[in-house]
Amino acid sequence: MNFYILTLFPEMVSQAMHTSIIGKAVERGLLHIEAINIRDYTRDKHMKTDDYPYGGGAGMVMQAQPVYDAYCAVKERIGYTPRTVYLTPQGPTFTQNMAKEMAIEKNMVFLCGHYEGVDERVLEEIVTDYVSIGDYVLTGGELPAMVMVDAISRMVPGVLTNETSGISESFEGGLLEYPQYTRPFQWNQKEAPGVLLSGDHQKIEEWRREQSILRTQKYRPDLLKEADLTIKEKALYRISDL
Ligand code: ADE
Repeated sequence: MNFYILTLFPEMVSQAMHTSIIGKAVERGLLHIEAINIRDYTRDKHMKTDDYPYGGGAGMVMQAQPVYDAYCAVKERIGYTPRTVYLTPQGPTFTQNMAKEMAIEKNMVFLCGHYEGVDERVLEEIVTDYVSIGDYVLTGGELPAMVMVDAISRMVPGVLTNETSGISESFEGGLLEYPQYTRPFQWNQKEAPGVLLSGDHQKIEEWRREQSILRTQKYRPDLLKEADLTIKEKALYRISDL
């Protein structure tokens, strides 16, 4: 999968996206992550990419022309109109389901805004999805773009080497993940749950399922309405359909 990130701060993106699991997937050729410097596309003799907002007000607005030309250069390389995300607190909040759904794309473009935003006319021209990563305001779209690229990338087949690690994790089936333990058996006067050492795989699965439901009930009860639970589980944990 190819990610093209349109930004005024390409070094911020390049650094972060070439380490750890994502970096390995890039090396293995499963992912291509490219930061495109919007400033390279300005036609202004002073290399300017922003200007004062019409109507007045604080801050600067990113101009349409450099953004559009940077986008067109990418679109030409791809050969069709790509799915293009504008990172903004005004969009719907990014979810695991969105990450999964986007992972089927071959190419995606991310536009990172800065200052007071981007000229509305270029957004109307190129953006297919407006996405927020949460109800708080950041200084730019780079971190949100990297959050999305990370979450989408791990849903691309082959990126996670242990194939099951994408299946039994938080939000699968609408539940949080069960707690994990490793050696030593006893640490800080606390023992690991005995069932995990029993060798009884069915018991272990049952215990993990229970932990997932209890955790979700405790920390994210809002998720339970949409979770995949059996009628029996709903009765057992007193979860209503209302
Ligand atoms: N840009 C600034 N804040 C943001 C947020 N919360 N999500 C996405 N883009 C943003």
